[in-house]
Amino acid sequence: MKTLRLAVVGFGRVGQVCAELISRSHDLSLASIVRRADSVGGKLPEALRSVPVTTHIGQVKEVDAALLCVPTNAVAEVAGQILQHGIPIVDCVTLHGEALHAHKQAIHKVAFHHRAAAIVGAGWDPGALSLFRSWFALLTPGGSTETRHHTGISLRHTTVAQSVRGVKDALCAEVRSSEGGVQRYVYVELEKHADTERVTQAIRADPLFLGQDMQVFPVESLAALEQEGRGVVLDRRGPSGRLGHQHLLLEARCDESVLSAQVMLAVSRALPELDPGAYVLTEIPLSAMWGERAEQAQRDWL
Ligand SMILES: NC(=O)c1ccc[n+]([C@@H]2O[C@H](COP(=O)([O-])OP(=O)(O)OC[C@H]3O[C@@H](n4cnc5c(N)ncnc54)[C@H](OP(=O)(O)O)[C@@H]3O)[C@@H](O)[C@H]2O)c1
Repeated sequence: MKTLRLAVVGFGRVGQVCAELISRSHDLSLASIVRRADSVGGKLPEALRSVPVTTHIGQVKEVDAALLCVPTNAVAEVAGQILQHGIPIVDCVTLHGEALHAHKQAIHKVAFHHRAAAIVGAGWDPGALSLFRSWFALLTPGGSTETRHHTGISLRHTTVAQSVRGVKDALCAEVRSSEGGVQRYVYVELEKHADTERVTQAIRADPLFLGQDMQVFPVESLAALEQEGRGVVLDRRGPSGRLGHQHLLLEARCDESVLSAQVMLAVSRALPELDPGAYVLTEIPLSAMWGERAEQAQRDWL
């Protein structure tokens, strides 16, 4: 099977994960990173230094598809610019219901006109989580679905750690260990030049934490940590009746950017077989997303 050459457009959270995952993939390769003119000089992570960075998709040599990782309100315009070169696209816009349907219709017109395929709303939510929602509803007609978003672990500010010299900000989480005990994780964002060891000792020495099972983790960004810890519970209750009461529950603790990037890569494998026009995830065969591993996946997961 031919290696698909992908361009990543927009190098924010989702774009960076897409680029990293493509560079580690066995059947996809990174043709280019396409950035706005203001960002193009920005430094790339070591592993991506050899990847060409451009400001325009037209400058990219041999590209099979583009993953659009730009803000939702910029996607339609960027999609138009890329589709007019006949290059297929994948986006993971954060739109739901009627708004996603309208987006698909608009992209369909452009994609069909330029004889290219486009897959829209292919991220985590909308995306993979929509598939679970849809399956839950199919399995329990007439039931009701509740979606609850939460932070993956409950983080709260800790004034003890925040008052230690060298600490910019700190968050604390209580985690139940496998033995059933409570562990305290203290995440600290440090001032420049702060001494990690000294900060850790100062926090451990505070009477509030003395004798407790606790660990201190310096992190680059607490904001990013809070984002990573997000999660969702999908709770579907079938109607009660003669056939019993079915209750389906899915809990995910995940980084939405990482899962969205995984979905974007997976659906890109399906693009070569699609007719021109726009599609959503429910219209893409699962086996096409596995690419050359489709048969093995059937044996493993069916
Ligand atoms: N479906 C889901 O579950 C899900 C989850 C997460 C995100 N998303 C969607 O994924 C997309 C990317 O999200 P993100 O979190 O990666 O966003 P982000 O961190 O803000 O990154 C977006 C990147 O797009 C580029 N950009 C910014 N403004 C632009 C503009 N006006 N026109 C063109 N490019 C622009 C910038 O990259 P350069 O500086 O390199 O140009 C920026 O870093 C969004 O549409 C978001 O809604 C979906």
